[in-house]
Amino acid sequence: MNNTETCNKFCDIHGEYEASRFFMFTSWSSWSRCLLCQEDDDRTEKNKSESDLCRKIIESSGIPKRFLSLSDSSYVPKNTVDDRNYRICIKYAIDFNKNLEIGVPIIMHGNTGTGKTHLSCLIARNVILMHKKYAKFTTAHNMFSFVKSSFNKEAGYTDMEAVSSYTVPDLLVIDDVGVQFCSSTERMIMFQVINGRYENRLPTIITTNLCIERLIEVLGERCFDRLNEHAHIMHFNWESNRKSMRQTRSIIPIIDQREVYGTDEEHEHTAME
Ligand SMILES: Nc1ncnc2c1ncn2[C@@H]1O[C@H](COP(=O)(O)OP(=O)(O)O)[C@@H](O)[C@H]1O
Ligand SMILES: [Mg+2]
Ligand SMILES: [Zn+2]
Repeated sequence: MNNTETCNKFCDIHGEYEASRFFMFTSWSSWSRCLLCQEDDDRTEKNKSESDLCRKIIESSGIPKRFLSLSDSSYVPKNTVDDRNYRICIKYAIDFNKNLEIGVPIIMHGNTGTGKTHLSCLIARNVILMHKKYAKFTTAHNMFSFVKSSFNKEAGYTDMEAVSSYTVPDLLVIDDVGVQFCSSTERMIMFQVINGRYENRLPTIITTNLCIERLIEVLGERCFDRLNEHAHIMHFNWESNRKSMRQTRSIIPIIDQREVYGTDEEHEHTAME
């Protein structure tokens, strides 16, 4: 007995197609579906699982909420140097797989409020959305705290595990290096993270308010050398964007300013972030 049968069927979307069915044990299977419909369903399922994966990576990335929803066009370069920085960042994310092969780092340094955190988050976000790669954002302060907490036996994780949570991601952003960075333990943590990533050729982005000479002093030469190899070094040496945002606000009568933007204390707090 022939245990396969075919017949012509009609799909409302794709028209006529050849369906088949099989005899198994004691009965016939149902007729096969239109192959094109099946492919559409597979694609939808694949897109859904990809966007679920992106959502999970984004949620665990540590990218601050206020930078998560920003699109590429949310950044408006202030001058030609800024425009060059912006273009390098956009291209860096697009070419991330190439940058991942060589482990190309980025060092962003300059005044506060000039867009370093904004741009580094834009790269991290695009790396996740475009390439489904694992990008992680942290401040130097939080990274030190997390690793140092592991010295406490009750922490539930070892110092090795803490360090490897920073050496494993495809991209790591360490924001605000040098703000409060001086102890020998912190230097050692920074070296372990940067060196671990360097050995695995994984790219790291550093943002700092320090000039390069001070950054070398703070990181130590060995650590800086590992970053400096192949690195894009970007300068952000213009006036704080936060300052110009405050000046724009001061045009509004004082009585309205408080309602719209909050008190001076809140301003200072934001300016120090
Ligand atoms: N070129 C720019 N275009 C749009 N927003 C900007 C730009 N530069 C800075 N900002 C905004 O100004 C604020 C400070 O920028 P931020 O990236 O935190 O500065 P930095 O990390 O250099 O101290 C943020 O709200 C950021 O979105
Ligand atoms: Mg910043
Ligand atoms: Zn069909």
